[in-house]
Amino acid sequence: MEAVITVLPGDGIGPDVTLCARRVLETVGDAFGHGFEFRQELVGGAAIDACGDPLPPATIGSCEASDAILLGAVGGPKWSDPKAAVRPEQGLLELRSVLGVYANLRPLKIYQELVGASPLKPEILDGVDLLVVRELTGGIYFGEKNRDANWASDLCVYHTHEIERIVRVAAKLAQGRRKKLCSVDKANVLETSRLWRETTNNIMAAEFADIEVETLLVDAAAMHLLSRPGDFDVIVTENMFGDILTDEASMLAGSMGMLPSASLGDSARGLYEPIHGSAPDIAGRGIANPCGAIASAALLLRHSLGLEQEAAAVETAISRAIAGGARTVDIAECGDAGVSTTEMTDAIIRCLN
Ligand code: IPM
Ligand code: MG
Repeated sequence: MEAVITVLPGDGIGPDVTLCARRVLETVGDAFGHGFEFRQELVGGAAIDACGDPLPPATIGSCEASDAILLGAVGGPKWSDPKAAVRPEQGLLELRSVLGVYANLRPLKIYQELVGASPLKPEILDGVDLLVVRELTGGIYFGEKNRDANWASDLCVYHTHEIERIVRVAAKLAQGRRKKLCSVDKANVLETSRLWRETTNNIMAAEFADIEVETLLVDAAAMHLLSRPGDFDVIVTENMFGDILTDEASMLAGSMGMLPSASLGDSARGLYEPIHGSAPDIAGRGIANPCGAIASAALLLRHSLGLEQEAAAVETAISRAIAGGARTVDIAECGDAGVSTTEMTDAIIRCLN
């Protein structure tokens, strides 16, 4: 098949890891006879430096004309002045909004060989295989913001239709898995959470009687994720809770660097990015973990291009490379310097062939 993929390296380690994911996609294209065309554009701090806009019109145009978008990370100390007029993160949020990718899928699987890389006890990690479905284009991220000398406010708004569509996405995914859905909210305090809970219960009762539903308050969910992570199948939650819980959950896998994400809307076009940030402290040092970005490329193959076999081949290659002992420093044994970003990618590509 022919496909156009916009690559948005962004900031910090973003360029390092997107390059790796692109190399993997090129290898897959050659091996399976697909013609992937890559178009590279600016986003985040790199775009602010180039033209003062974290999401330039050319970037939006390229994304809209593509089958899929692969993004690295945005942000860094250079653009973090609280008084700055524009921030790199605005580019990412606007991109998610413009593309209408309201469903952010963050799958978490444990590689047996990396159990020791997690700060949790190995027995807690037994059987962990969960998927967080994070609402991505609503809530406090997108509500009206106000600021005066001595006060500030961020409005959290959810409409019923936004809750309904994300719950449907999560419930359908649960149907293809262990048929369990956990909805996370803060309904004891927040009105948006009370609407979230009511809407979720209505949709689940009316349309998904085959799914077992559990509801947790977000503070309890944060604790249960560490005490009984193996019980979770699909977790659905609002934008900010999903952001926080997935950073927490990533430590089950040993490192933030391992987790991929897919952001989807109503069309096949999706935005794919590792869940980690731009990690300015290690940018340009060649030691970033490319697994999250490469696993995001696998999700791209699956969800936007419909290439399941190719997606599975990439995921298997990551597992094999890890089983073969390849480790970047974040997942290496204590005191071991690990391999470089390029070497880790080489190991994965060798396992693809
Ligand atoms: C993420 C990131 C972003 C978010 C930031 C960079 C705006 O933390 O994708 O998880 O909060 O959504
Ligand atoms: Mg985050």
